[in-house]
Amino acid sequence: MSDRGRFGRMGFILAAVGSAIGLGNIWKFPYITYANEGGSFVLVYLIAIVLIGAPIMFAELIIGRRTQQSPYGAFAELGKQALGGKAWSAVGGLGVFTGFVLLSYYAVIAGWTVYYFGRCLTWSLQGYDVQNAPLGEMFGGFLANGALQITFLAIFLGVTTGVVLLGVKSGIERVTKTLMPILGVVLVLLAINSIRAPGFGDAMRFLFHIGPIDADGFLEAVGHSFFTLSLGMGAMITYGSYVSKKQSIPGSTFLICLFDTLIALIACVIMFSIIFSIPEAERATTFGRSSTMLFTTLPSMFYALPLGGLLSPVFYLLVAFAALTSTIGLLEVAVSYFIDARGWTRKKATLFCGAAIFALGVPSALSLGASNGLSSFNPFGSLATGVLDTFDYTVSNWFLPVGGLLTAVFVGWMLKPELLRDELEEGHGTFKAFGLWLFLLRFVGPVAILWILWAVIGGRSFA
Ligand code: PHE
Repeated sequence: MSDRGRFGRMGFILAAVGSAIGLGNIWKFPYITYANEGGSFVLVYLIAIVLIGAPIMFAELIIGRRTQQSPYGAFAELGKQALGGKAWSAVGGLGVFTGFVLLSYYAVIAGWTVYYFGRCLTWSLQGYDVQNAPLGEMFGGFLANGALQITFLAIFLGVTTGVVLLGVKSGIERVTKTLMPILGVVLVLLAINSIRAPGFGDAMRFLFHIGPIDADGFLEAVGHSFFTLSLGMGAMITYGSYVSKKQSIPGSTFLICLFDTLIALIACVIMFSIIFSIPEAERATTFGRSSTMLFTTLPSMFYALPLGGLLSPVFYLLVAFAALTSTIGLLEVAVSYFIDARGWTRKKATLFCGAAIFALGVPSALSLGASNGLSSFNPFGSLATGVLDTFDYTVSNWFLPVGGLLTAVFVGWMLKPELLRDELEEGHGTFKAFGLWLFLLRFVGPVAILWILWAVIGGRSFA
C-alpha cells in the first residue's frame, strides 16, 4: 500500500475536474453540438449530466473511497457481499482495459493540440501563411505523416508518464492544481473577449434556442455525458480511492459536474463566436460539419479576428493542458491496478503502462493516412474506418456505456443501501436526496444506457 498516496482536499477536486475536462469538452462537445443544431441538444446534455452522469459519479466515488482501492480490487472487495461475488471484479478489469485503449488514441489527438500550439506560435511570429493553401489540406498532410504522429504521441505520453511517475500528491495533484486554474481563467478571458466578436449573438442564439431534437441526438447527448465526466471506466473510482473520509462526495460531485459543464459551454461560446463571425456563405464552404473543426476551421478564423495571432497559441496550449490532465487520470487507472493488485512499485507500474500504451497507440497514429492497411481497417464496416476510429467507436459506444451500466447495477442493486448511505454521509452529514439518488441510479441511468446499447446494436454510432 506504500505506493498509493492520497489527495489533499482541493487537490482531489481539481484532479477530478482535470480528468473530466479534456478533449471531450473542447474538441468533441462543440462539434457534436454543432452537428446536432445546438439548443435542444445542449439542454438534453445538461439534463443527462444531472439525472444520469452525476448519480453514477456518486456511485464511482463511493466504491473508490469505501475500499480505498483501484477499480479491480474495489469491485472484488465489495463484490463479496453481493450476488455474483468476486466475478464483479471483471467490471474493474474492463475499466483498466478501457483505460489502456482510450488513452492510446486519446493521446494521439492530444498530440495534435501540441503541434497546433507550435504552428500557431510560428504563425504569430512570422505571419499566417496558409490563406491560400487550405488548412484542411495541411491538416490532412499532418495526419498522414506517420513520423510526426508518432513523435507527438510520444511527447504527450512522455509528459503524462512523467507526471504519474511522481505520484498522486507531488505529481498529479501538483500539476492539476497549477494547470486547472490557469485553464479556467484564460478560458473565461477568451470567452469575455468573444463578446466583441460579431458572431457572439448568433452563437448564443444557436446554443440556447430550443428547437427539435431527434432520438439520435438525445442518445448522443446521454452518451457524451459519460465520456465527458470520465465515467464508466473506473477513473472516478481510482481518484475516489485517494479521497479522505472527511470530504463530501455529493459536494465534490456537484463541483466536478458544474466545472465540467461550464467549461464545455464556454468552449462552445468561444468557438461559435468565431465561427458565426464568418459570413454564412463562406462558413458553409470552409466548414464541413466535421470532427476536425478544432484543427481545420478554427485557426484561420482566429487569424481573421483582432488579436487572433496572439490568442490562437494560447488557446491551443490550453487545450493541450486540458487533455494532459485527462491523460494523467487515464494512465493512473492502469497504474493503480498494477500497484494495488499486483504489488508493483509506482515506478515499475508507470513505466510499463506508459510503454504498453505507447505501443498500442502507434497503430492509431499510423491509421490517419500513413499506413494504408491501418487506415482502412474496418471490422465494424462503415461505422468506423481506421484503427483510431475503430478504437473510439468501441470505447464510446460499448465499453463506457457497458461499464457505466454495470457500475450502476452493482451499486444500485447489489450493495446494501445502508452501506451507501453511510459512505455518502461520511464527511457530508445527512444526505436528504438519498432516495432520489438511488432511484436515478437504479432506474433512470440503466434504462437510458440500455437504450443507447439497443441503438448501437441496431447499427448506430455515437462516437
Ligand atoms: N473526460 C475526458 C474528456 O472529456 C475523457 C476521459 C474519459 C478521461 C474517461 C478519463 C477517463 O476529455
